[in-house]
Amino acid sequence: MKQTCTFLLLLFLATYQLNAQDAKMKTFIDGLMKKMTTEEKIGQLNLVVSGYVPTGAVMSEGVEPKLKNGQIGGMFGFHDPTRMKQIQKVAVENTRLKIPLFFGLDVIHGHKTIFPIPLGLSCTWDMGLVEKSARIAAQEATAEGLNWAFSPMVDIARDPRWGRISEGSGEDPYLGSQIAKAMVKGYQGDDLTKNNSMMACVKHFALYGAAEAGRDYNTVDMSRSTMYNYYLPPYKAAVDAGAGSVMTSFNVVDEIPASANRWLLTDLLRNQWGFKGFVVTDYTAVMEMSLHGLGDLQQVSTLALKAGVDMDMVSEGFLNTLKKSLDEKKITMAEIDLACRRILEAKWKMGLFDDPYRRLDESRPAKETMTPENRKASREIAARSFVLLKNDNQILPLKKSGQTLAFIGPFADNHRDMLGTWVIAGEWEKSVSVMEGVKNASPQSIILSAKGSNITEDTSFIHRLNFYGQKMVAIDPISPETLMRTALETANKADIIVAVLGESQSMSGESSSRTDIGIPKEQRRLLEELVKTGKPVVLVLFTGRPLTLEWEQEHCAAILNVWAPGTEAGNAIADVLFGDVNPGGKLTTTFPRSVGQIPLYYNHKPTGRPYNGEYQTKFLTNYLDSPNEPVYPFGYGLSYTTFSYGDVKLSKTNLKGNETLTASVTLTNTGKMAGEETVQLYIHDPVASISRPVKELKGFQKIMLKAGERREVSFRISTEELKFYNKDLKYDWEPGDFDIMIGGDSEAVKIARVNWVK
Ligand code: NOJ
Repeated sequence: MKQTCTFLLLLFLATYQLNAQDAKMKTFIDGLMKKMTTEEKIGQLNLVVSGYVPTGAVMSEGVEPKLKNGQIGGMFGFHDPTRMKQIQKVAVENTRLKIPLFFGLDVIHGHKTIFPIPLGLSCTWDMGLVEKSARIAAQEATAEGLNWAFSPMVDIARDPRWGRISEGSGEDPYLGSQIAKAMVKGYQGDDLTKNNSMMACVKHFALYGAAEAGRDYNTVDMSRSTMYNYYLPPYKAAVDAGAGSVMTSFNVVDEIPASANRWLLTDLLRNQWGFKGFVVTDYTAVMEMSLHGLGDLQQVSTLALKAGVDMDMVSEGFLNTLKKSLDEKKITMAEIDLACRRILEAKWKMGLFDDPYRRLDESRPAKETMTPENRKASREIAARSFVLLKNDNQILPLKKSGQTLAFIGPFADNHRDMLGTWVIAGEWEKSVSVMEGVKNASPQSIILSAKGSNITEDTSFIHRLNFYGQKMVAIDPISPETLMRTALETANKADIIVAVLGESQSMSGESSSRTDIGIPKEQRRLLEELVKTGKPVVLVLFTGRPLTLEWEQEHCAAILNVWAPGTEAGNAIADVLFGDVNPGGKLTTTFPRSVGQIPLYYNHKPTGRPYNGEYQTKFLTNYLDSPNEPVYPFGYGLSYTTFSYGDVKLSKTNLKGNETLTASVTLTNTGKMAGEETVQLYIHDPVASISRPVKELKGFQKIMLKAGERREVSFRISTEELKFYNKDLKYDWEPGDFDIMIGGDSEAVKIARVNWVK
């Protein structure tokens, strides 16, 4: 009783304090807005790019005079506290109303210290590590003057042709939602006003990952039920976690571009989900709506404002046309006021009105970025993101002594490609290459290395990879024949060949879709020649997306997928190759056999003519020329030890209403090493009012076991886990049977059935 009273009192005080703060914010903003001219209000809705990261064909112009005239609400594209301080000084000292600016940047997987690309990070299935990476990113980014991160990107993606699959957390809405929450928490911390907190920006709202044919910026078309059940949950999770801002996507949703879609930005986001922050468009998304066929700049700007966009990134459609639209009565003052208020509220919540220089302390970068602790965290997180795809005869871990090891491939002695996509502040020169990492591990084994091949020799491909004239991929002056000959001579001296191959930095990420998602052909040829030596080949694979690896799976002795690991790449790879860290990453995307199978994802619907494992059978959901199965399913990943799963035990098999079910398995470490397993819970609803997927992830736990150790792993299941959006988009569960599945990946599961009535 006493405890309940204390709890209620604390709740009352917290609510009271919150209301008092809201009231204080309202009074302040009411007062400020009374003083603002229409032009100044519109100025707050303008986000300009200034720096070196245009992500479209247009750059902002005339930034300085606009700044002085109060025509800019925020800037992005650079991370230099000295320059930002000068700019903020102009905003708060030399403009009429002294309103501070937002400073944004694509802080995606770390700021100075780079962590694995988001797709790799998701393979840790470890929310503590995910949050930690975002927290460190915020610490470093705020040290460099930033207060707004264009992250997390939570777009569900089922198509590995799409280059931006690397920026998200894969194909699953449940896991994606957990990660979205952890990222928001990491960036925003426990108090947005702190000098090491930055505002998160959830993107790209919405459905950007479903671009048709995996072509970036392309059309999206899906049913509301698919949206609600599979694509929208991570955005909602980020909003529920308190994300301060949302970025619109480039694509259409229900045939209306997201930035003009009032159903999306107002009915769903604000009215249904209760989002209280502000909405910014993606880069030039307002003006691009003219190309979508929605009218001239004035028209599309009007549509965007009315739909619920508050800030216009780079188009300057708001800046240059809203006043005219107001005069022509196409929009109302109330609509401008609303958008302006939301931006000012966000600035207030960030503490910018109290102290606009809060994150502009030039002494911080030297003390707080690329610290040994941050690099240590990056190394640990990277090692945990690696996925061991194959390990025949326990060829891995490599022995530190008594062997000759040949590291061969264009990624073996390479710094450039360690960091992956979106590393604006990251310095690849400071990354640890694979060879450096291996040498740092000081093995007594003999270590040899050779390049073996170019990343690619296709000059038009190279031209695209080297965008903005950067030399990211170059053809070696040494001839391909000599590279190959030297590599084979080196390989022939070794006991084990480690082929270090894959995709370079700019082969994935924005505007980097591919139709062929194999290892580039020059490298593949090298791999084939290495395999022909008859020596065991371990493939260390760099990639920003799932690749088609059927041949590699058949011919390599082991495959370790390391994604793009970040600053500490080489050290983390050596940690895993030599067994100081036992890999435990699990895939968060399906790896198809061929591009022809795409889209291929684990939580697909059943059909009336289900595939039965035999692709030759006629009149089934299959192909003439390929099995349906992927090379590696969602949730898959090996360890240097082995785990066995007992049968699924259920606390009850008949449940009613709000009872809870406990489902457990006995997990045993049957190998010779301690290791961590991600135990996954899936549920299938075999009879419902709409056709439900064959299985859906509903829980997971990371379990560390010593060699020989055994543990009971239990999941508590309530009717929450049974719910879905039905044909009326009502979120509820339906009584009947449910299959409860537990296992180490989405295919290797044990099953038990319950009946649950209302
Ligand atoms: C375009 C990208 O789609 C988006 O993710 C990014 O945040 C903006 N450019 C700003 O760089």
